[in-house]
Amino acid sequence: MRRDNVILVGFMGAGKSVCGRLLARRLGRCFVETDDIIVASEGRSIPEIFREAGEARFRQLEGDVVEALKLKSGEVIATGGGMPCRDGRMELLRELGTVVWLDGDLGELYARASRVGHRPMLEGRSMAEIEELYRSRQLSYRRAHITIDTTGIGADQVVARILSALREAHDIRA
Ligand code: S3P
Repeated sequence: MRRDNVILVGFMGAGKSVCGRLLARRLGRCFVETDDIIVASEGRSIPEIFREAGEARFRQLEGDVVEALKLKSGEVIATGGGMPCRDGRMELLRELGTVVWLDGDLGELYARASRVGHRPMLEGRSMAEIEELYRSRQLSYRRAHITIDTTGIGADQVVARILSALREAHDIRA
């Protein structure tokens, strides 16, 4: 069954949190972030989880969250940048609703991701390695129902584009 959630995916710095919150407000829906669910259930921050338990454990926790998301309907859900990039994850997310990929120029995404918050996946990685990570993840992101190019535009415009793409897809009445 396809539930009518709107699920935002994309690389770190794509604006999933900011745009997701705005989009939820515009649609009068609840907003949830998978990273927040993990932080709340673990009682520690994402950098702490990476440092104390390692990336593999964090990915496991993301898997648990995907299961928990199956209970949701009608919500706007922002995922962590690596969440959809595991075997079969995009298929699961696609069953939960309309998946929207926030893409953009990697230089812009990187600049934004480095400015806001602390991201363990960027730590100690060269730009070439980050490009490689982005490229490998594109294979998963591309499976989204809708792609929005965020290059050079602000969150309000991104949300306007998401809303019109959703309307066009006849998924929701916005
Ligand atoms: C990650 C992205 C982060 C967070 C964690 C791992 C990744 O979320 O889930 O640090 O692997 O890309 P954002 O995409 O919101 O930065």
